[in-house]
Amino acid sequence: MTGDLYSVRMRASEGDDHVSGAETLTADPDATAREMVARAVTHSRGDPDEVTVTVERLDAEPDRTPALPVVTVETGSVAAARAVVADLLADAGVDERALAAGRDVLAADTATRGAALLDATDGTRLDPDPERGVRATRMGTAPDAGLDAAVERAGLADTRVRDALVLATKVAAAPGVLAEVCRSDNPDYAAGYCVAGGVYYRFPALSEPGDDRGGRAIFLAPGADPEACVRFLEERPVLVTGARGFERRPPEAGPVADPEDVDAPVADCESTPSG
Ligand code: COA
Repeated sequence: MTGDLYSVRMRASEGDDHVSGAETLTADPDATAREMVARAVTHSRGDPDEVTVTVERLDAEPDRTPALPVVTVETGSVAAARAVVADLLADAGVDERALAAGRDVLAADTATRGAALLDATDGTRLDPDPERGVRATRMGTAPDAGLDAAVERAGLADTRVRDALVLATKVAAAPGVLAEVCRSDNPDYAAGYCVAGGVYYRFPALSEPGDDRGGRAIFLAPGADPEACVRFLEERPVLVTGARGFERRPPEAGPVADPEDVDAPVADCESTPSG
């Protein structure tokens, strides 16, 4: 029992539409809930008529893990970015049929509430309710993680980058997860990412401006237990303890964090993703 760490989750909606969500693990649920409500009512995506905040005391110690190392990949076009994503996922062991299923999920999805869980071999849908998908929840950053500062020093100052990195770090830690791809369904936000070989590859333009199609596909290794994966994603609290480095490809594309500013070596960023 911790008794003093809480999962605080906020969701804002307008009618039937989900406007925004935020969550973290914290010892100070009061201040955290206030910040989240302030963020909800000023969100660029809509004017919520309902904001729900859930404060839940954890009954178990969270798993602790550093964030995935981040590589920002600059490409000349959205098509080129998607081709790089396909190569990275294939290198990680995602077969052609599963890649095609992932592409369909991302292209068709404008309203799904969660991620599609796909068999990395044949693309079979493994989440119990495909209308809903599976949502990773109960995750956050440790107060001394320095993740916001590290993200800012890497030239990526945006809470969406921090939130996506925390979410992707939890997803990558789930049993059986081989890779993930995510494209925003916010027409004003073109960035997206894939996780392969333990690296978070960020693409500043993975969608054309104005495109509201997006979503998330998680690829499960052959033989993995989908139920165990879903249980972990939905229930296990995970605390991200620090950054593990940021780099850019090609290197001249922009600033990188001062190596002294990050909490762990960046060597993983250099490794080639593999199955
Ligand atoms: N998108 C759309 N609808 C959402 C939603 C989301 N990200 N999160 C919650 N809802 C709606 C759904 O209708 C949901 O009902 P369902 O469980 O039948 O799908 C309802 O709100 C209640 O959801 P619940 O999980 O009880 O919400 P919560 O108060 O615990 O808050 C969030 C959860 C919002 C913090 C969480 O969903 C979230 O956004 N997590 C991070 C992002 C994420 O995992 N995104 C995956 C989408 S691809």
